[in-house]
Amino acid sequence: MHTGLRGRVAMVSGASKGIGRAIARALAAEGARLSLAARSEALLRELAAELEREHGAACLPCAADLTREEEIRRWVRATVERFGGVDVLVNNAGAVQGGPFLELPHQAWLDSFQLKLFGYVRAAREVFPLLRERGGGRIVNVIGIAGRQPFPDYMIGNAANAALINVTKALANEGAPHGILVNAVNPGPIRTERWDGLVVKWSQAKGVSPAEAEAQLLADVPLKRAGTPEEVAHLVVFLASDLASYVTGTATAVDGGMVRTA
Ligand SMILES: NC(=O)c1ccc[n+]([C@@H]2O[C@H](COP(=O)([O-])OP(=O)(O)OC[C@H]3O[C@@H](n4cnc5c(N)ncnc54)[C@H](OP(=O)(O)O)[C@@H]3O)[C@@H](O)[C@H]2O)c1
Repeated sequence: MHTGLRGRVAMVSGASKGIGRAIARALAAEGARLSLAARSEALLRELAAELEREHGAACLPCAADLTREEEIRRWVRATVERFGGVDVLVNNAGAVQGGPFLELPHQAWLDSFQLKLFGYVRAAREVFPLLRERGGGRIVNVIGIAGRQPFPDYMIGNAANAALINVTKALANEGAPHGILVNAVNPGPIRTERWDGLVVKWSQAKGVSPAEAEAQLLADVPLKRAGTPEEVAHLVVFLASDLASYVTGTATAVDGGMVRTA
């Protein structure tokens, strides 16, 4: 099938690791040109060199702290300077703090919202006019199933993700007259550095081995395993592609069946 992504300019946040890295790789394999953001410049440069070597992909590694509005603007400006515009924005950089409700200080709420909720909204606000100028484009928000089904000891993530699912739908309505299609992907448990950290925290909190902690965390997953970053990336590529030309305002889980609602 033809994705139509060859030559398109895709911005991917949180591209240095995990799901974002897999998304960047999958978009590069389809011939997209990439603007990659995260804080760790060394990892971005390494990824850019890899994608250039393996796929001949033009890449702009852009070190930026996406909790800061000015750094988001700088990333967008650098992308336009390098590639002349933007076709796809993938909002993915996130690191929400988990923990028992009464132990999470208010600052944890502010910091987590600053990156996951406001980071996504700010990037979309900067890129939306550029997509409109271009006659259309795509925004894909990598959110999380906690936005649909709250998880214990994850109240900040539950709230940020629920807000982002709502923003996705609202932005899809805003974008439709301009050919801007906006969708969300909700990962369930995906094997990344974040997931490994969660397993360690869970094992410490419950006083069980990491293997037992992982088994407990996966108990409600019908497919009985964590997903891979590539399995999330496949859906993101589809949503960013010409194949998804009649899909907007959706939030689709990639979670091995974990969320029980339709
Ligand atoms: N893995 C899962 O099981 C899972 C489940 C549900 C939802 N999700 C969501 O999926 C997305 C990706 O998760 P992941 O598991 O791939 O996470 P990850 O492995 O921890 O990677 C997070 C990415 O975000 C970047 N990042 C973190 N803070 C940043 C900041 N202030 N400014 C710029 N970039 C920043 C990190 O790079 P630097 O550290 O270099 O900045 C990294 O590239 C997140 O939004 C997460 O909430 C993941």
